[in-house]
Amino acid sequence: MQTSTERGAWGSRLGFILAAAGSAVGLGNIWGFPTQVGQGGGAAFVLLYLGCVFFICAPIMIAELVIGRRAQKDPVTAFKVIRPGTPWWLTGMLGVLAGVGILSFYSVIAGWTIAYVWFAATGAPGTGDATSAFFGNFVGNGTTSFGLTVVVLIATALIILGGVRAGIERATKIMMPALFVLLILLAIRAVTLPGADAGLAYYLRPDMSKIWDINVVNAALGQAFFSLSLGMGAMITYGSYLSRGTSIGSAAAWVVVLDTSVALLAGFIIFPAGFSIAGFDPSGGGPGLIFTVLPRLFDSLPGGHLFGAAFFTLLTVAALTSTISLLEVPVAHLIDARGWTRKRAVWVVTGLTAALAIPSALSNGASATLSALPGVGMSFLDLMATIWNEMALPIGGFLIAVFVGWVWRVPDALVELNAEGARMPFAGLWSFLIRYVCPAAILLIIVFKVRALLG
Ligand code: PHE
Repeated sequence: MQTSTERGAWGSRLGFILAAAGSAVGLGNIWGFPTQVGQGGGAAFVLLYLGCVFFICAPIMIAELVIGRRAQKDPVTAFKVIRPGTPWWLTGMLGVLAGVGILSFYSVIAGWTIAYVWFAATGAPGTGDATSAFFGNFVGNGTTSFGLTVVVLIATALIILGGVRAGIERATKIMMPALFVLLILLAIRAVTLPGADAGLAYYLRPDMSKIWDINVVNAALGQAFFSLSLGMGAMITYGSYLSRGTSIGSAAAWVVVLDTSVALLAGFIIFPAGFSIAGFDPSGGGPGLIFTVLPRLFDSLPGGHLFGAAFFTLLTVAALTSTISLLEVPVAHLIDARGWTRKRAVWVVTGLTAALAIPSALSNGASATLSALPGVGMSFLDLMATIWNEMALPIGGFLIAVFVGWVWRVPDALVELNAEGARMPFAGLWSFLIRYVCPAAILLIIVFKVRALLG
């Protein structure tokens, strides 16, 4: 394993699983998943999402990790190491760009969660109002929104610069289980609220006509990639710090199961709690869904302030363990491929990301044009999320599947997967999925989506 000063390595198998799960579990699960379910019409979206997770994304998770461990390099260099002299490194470059693109809007939302720690702790009046005016006013303030975005980006940069890193890994060991327990408690409270049944039905009883809506299918695919941190080389990068002899197959299984359980749990909180509010429209909340529903849930609990503050604190930590993996991809690239120092790489990428974050931070009411882009019909932030999550990540995943299945090829990948006595479980099934199912399914979805767009 590489031990140069600028590259690192995981201390243990558990350390790796926690870091990878830390990357995966974040705003994508607790903010993104319920928002997408709401926009995708409920249970049909959930079914499609689960299909994408298990048949398309899980095999790609293994593919990314094995590329990273084999090459021990950043995503761009990794493709060059395995297939020198071919243009496959462009796949890694797409990932580097996606890292910056996703971080630029992700940090805006992570900034909101920081503010909500404060609102919950101090019991800011009106957070739980039915009209969501409080949320609208808050995000409509561009200076606050961007200020908090910068706080998130600087915190991320400082963690990545080292020192605090070990601390974060140690903290994650306590915070992640704590988040999980809190989610279970909140779900129990939510499903016992009056009116919760309608929410459960919405969440669990699929309207089969929606299953064939290409926009919903594409959104489910994009959400699955986003939630699992796939398609942009985050897992190639994390895999590059992984030692031989660790079973990639079982590590990947843990990450997928943990990530999916957290997303499903979030749905068991938001929909029952939402539907217990009269006149609730799950698709109407947009990016504000959790920020308006959750404070009302906390209001219904004894000691709700404390629950609320604890919840948003844990969510902020979960978001930070994701932002560090987003920043790590471009940073690792500049270190490995360009020979930059870690410090220079971190601050340059952070500065660029902050600049790119400005329009997203202003697109929630502060600027009318950015909040509803003319001719696009969505906000700049939503447009960024759509481009990166629904297009760039699935395309990246498609290329990774084709690369491992047909270019590097499964037998060679299996040599790495089975290195030093590790045994890849279900190797035959994985081979089938990565060679045929992943590329074909993603390609079909993209083609139909583009056809629908051209309309
Ligand atoms: N998976 C993270 C989340 O769900 C977001 C993320 C996407 C992180 C891509 C890294 C890479 O919040």
